[in-house]
Amino acid sequence: MKKFFAFVLAFVALTAAANTDEAKMNKFIDNLMSKMTLQEKLGQLNLPVSGEIVTGSAKSSDVAEKIKKGQVGGLFNLKGVDKIREVQQIAVEQSRLHIPLFFGMDVIHGYETVFPIPLALSMSWDIDAIRNSAHVAAVESTADGISWTFSPMVDICRDARWGRMAEGAGEDPYLGSMIAKAMVEGYQGNDLAAKNTMMACVKHFALYGAAEAGRDYNTADMSHTRMFNEYFPPYKAAAEAGAGSFMTSFNTVDYIPSTGNKWLMTTVLRDMWGFKGFVVTDYTAISEMIAHGMGDLQTVSALALNAGTDMDMVADGFLGTLEKSLNEGKVSMAAIDAACRRILEAKYKLGLFEDPYRYLDTKRAKTEIYTDEHRAAARKLATETFVLLENSDNLLPLKKQGKIAIVGPLADTRTNMPGTWSVAAAMDKYKTVREAMVEAVKGKAEVLYAKGCNICYDSVMEKNSTMFGREMRDNRDADVMREEAVKVAQQADVIVACMGEPSEMTGESSCRTNLEILDAQKDLLTALKATGKPIVLLNFSGRATVMNWEKENFNTILNVWFGGSETGDAICDVVFGDVAPSGHLSASMPKSVGQLPLYYAQLNTGRPCKTWFSKFTSNYLDVDNAPLYPFGYGQSYTTFSYSAPSISSTTMKEDGSVTVSVKVTNTGNYDGAEVVQLYIRDLVGSISRPVAELKDFKRINLKKGESQVVTFTITADKLKFYDNDLNYICEPGDFNVMVGPNSRDVQTLTFTLQ
Ligand code: BGC
Repeated sequence: MKKFFAFVLAFVALTAAANTDEAKMNKFIDNLMSKMTLQEKLGQLNLPVSGEIVTGSAKSSDVAEKIKKGQVGGLFNLKGVDKIREVQQIAVEQSRLHIPLFFGMDVIHGYETVFPIPLALSMSWDIDAIRNSAHVAAVESTADGISWTFSPMVDICRDARWGRMAEGAGEDPYLGSMIAKAMVEGYQGNDLAAKNTMMACVKHFALYGAAEAGRDYNTADMSHTRMFNEYFPPYKAAAEAGAGSFMTSFNTVDYIPSTGNKWLMTTVLRDMWGFKGFVVTDYTAISEMIAHGMGDLQTVSALALNAGTDMDMVADGFLGTLEKSLNEGKVSMAAIDAACRRILEAKYKLGLFEDPYRYLDTKRAKTEIYTDEHRAAARKLATETFVLLENSDNLLPLKKQGKIAIVGPLADTRTNMPGTWSVAAAMDKYKTVREAMVEAVKGKAEVLYAKGCNICYDSVMEKNSTMFGREMRDNRDADVMREEAVKVAQQADVIVACMGEPSEMTGESSCRTNLEILDAQKDLLTALKATGKPIVLLNFSGRATVMNWEKENFNTILNVWFGGSETGDAICDVVFGDVAPSGHLSASMPKSVGQLPLYYAQLNTGRPCKTWFSKFTSNYLDVDNAPLYPFGYGQSYTTFSYSAPSISSTTMKEDGSVTVSVKVTNTGNYDGAEVVQLYIRDLVGSISRPVAELKDFKRINLKKGESQVVTFTITADKLKFYDNDLNYICEPGDFNVMVGPNSRDVQTLTFTLQ
C-alpha cells in the first residue's frame, strides 16, 4: 500500500512538473508570438533547401537574406558545426526577433557511423539494438549540429519493386510498430533538450509503401479497415512514443494528396491519436499538389495549412501565398498561429531558445563521431541482420586457411557499403569487403581478387543505379573481366562472390520491374560454378529479390543487404564463424515479381488453393502462391529444435490472459541466436481476418546444447482489430496460436475467447 501511495505521489509530482513546464513554455511562446508580424509567423513555417549554402558561403547566400528577414524556420541536410553555426548566428544576431533555426537531416540509419539500412535492421528483430542504433545516430548528429532527423521511415511495404522498401522495416505491422517505437525512443531519449538527443520525424504519413505497381510517388488506395489494421499501426506507435514531428507522404490517400488531406493530418493523427507535434511536408509536396490536379500554388498551400500541415519543405507555398489567402478569407489567422506555435514549441523543447548554440560544440564534433564504441555497436548489429538463406553443405563458416578468391562487383567498393540514404557518411573511412577480408585472414590465408563483371551489361541502367558518388563502372570488355575472374577462381580453394544490387538500386526513385539476378552477374556466377570450386554467395540488396536461380544453383547463400560503415568487418565476422548468422526475414521473398504484393498475413479467399495447380482455386498457372523464403525465415550455423508448445488454458476471458510456452534447444555445434515467433489467427469474425498475424516474438541467445523455455502472454489486446466502423474490438470465438521459427514452419494450438 505504501508503495502504491509513493507511486501516486511521484506521478502527481511529475504531472505537476510537466504542467508547470508546459505553462512556462506557453507563456514564453505567447509572449514571442505577440511580437511577431504575419510574415515572421509564415517564416517559421518555411523550410527552404540549403543547397546554396552547401556549395557557397552561408553569409552571401539568398537563404541568408531570408533568414535575416525572419523568413526561415529551419534548414536541412547541411553538414558541419562551423557551417551550421555561421547560419545560426545570422538568425540569432541579425533577425529582428532572434528566433533560432533548427537544423534537420536525413539521418536515416546512422550518421558517420552508419548502421545497416533500415530494412536490414528489421531483419535482426533486435529491438534494443535498433533503439541503440538510433541513440548512437542522435549522439553523433547532435555533436555535429543536427537536432532533427527525418526518420524513422515506418511505411509498411509488401511490394519489393518499390525501391524505398530499403528504408523501412518490411511488411509487418507488429514488427514495424515495435521498431517505430524503438527508433523514436532511441532518437529522442527522455529529454529532447538534452545535448545528445534529437527530434524524430515519422514518415511518410501515410501509405507511401503501398504505391501502386511498386512505382515511386504513385497512388495508394485501400479501405480504411486495411489502413487501420495493417498500414497505420507503426505510425500510431511512433506517435504514441512521443515523436516530435511527422512528415507527409507524396501519394494520395482517398484521392487527396496526404499533404492536403485533413482527415489524415487532423482527424486521424491529432484527434484520434493525440499527436501534439508538428507536421512537415515531404520535399516540394505542396507544389506537387498542382500536378495532382488540386489547383494552383495558392490553392494547394491553403489546402495544406487547412489540413493541418505546419511546415512547407522547399515548395515556397506557405511563405509565398498564405498572406494573400488570409486576406481573401481562405485561411484563418488561427490556423497560421496554430502552425507557428507548433514549430516554436519544437524549438523550445529542443532547448534552442535557452541556447541556440546548444548543438554546436566543436569539441563534441571531434570526439563523439565515428568512435570505436559506436563502430563496435554498428558492426555487431550488422552481423545480426545477415540472413542465411542456404548452407546445405555446411560450407559456412569458412576456415581462415588456403586461398580465398573474392570476386564480384560488390567485393571491392567502398561507397556502396553504407547503403542508400547515408547523407552524412564519411566514405573514405570505410573498408571494402575485400580489404576487411585481407585483414581478417592476415598471416593465415591468402585473398585473391577479381571484379569479374559490372553490375549489369547495360551501362545506362548501371549509371542510373549508382548515383551520388557510388559509380563503379569498369570499362573493360565483359569477357575479359569474366575470364580474369575465372582464372583467379581456379587458383583458389573457395570463392566468395559479392553480388547483387548496388546501394542506389534501392532508395528513392529506384524501382524495378524485374527482381531477378542481373545479366552480367548471372553469367559470371555460371562461369564460376563451372570451375567446380565451392562458392559462398553473398547477396547485397535493399529489397526482397527473386532468387530462384541462385537457390537452384548454389548451396550457400547469405543475404547481407547493406550493412553500413562496418559492413566489411561484419561480413568477415560471420563468414569466418566468429558470429553465427541470426537474421530473419522481415519481408517475404517472392518466387516471381508477378506474385507482388506478397505478404504472409493475407486474408483467405473463398477458394483457397490447397495443392497447386488446382482449377477454380486462387492460384497462378505458372508459379505457386508460396514465397521462395517466407516471412520470419533465417537459418544459422547451428540448429534449433522446438518442443511441442503448451497453452495454460484453452479458454480465456476478455479481461484475462493465457500463456503459450515452448522449449527451444540449440541442437547444433555453434552458439547462436534464434527469433521465436508467435502468430495468431482469429478463426471467425465480423470481418474476414488474416490467416496469421505476428503478435509477439523473442530473440534469444542459446549456447550450443542450451535450452530455454520461451513464454508468451496473450491478452485481449493481441486479439483486437478494427472493424469496418473502426471500432477497436476483440470478438469471442476460437483462435489459432502458432509458434515457430518463421511464419511457415509453425506448430498450432487453439483456444477460445469467451
Ligand atoms: C524524401 C524524404 C526526405 C526528404 C528530405 C524527400 O525526397 O522523400 O524521405 O526526408 O526528401 O531530404
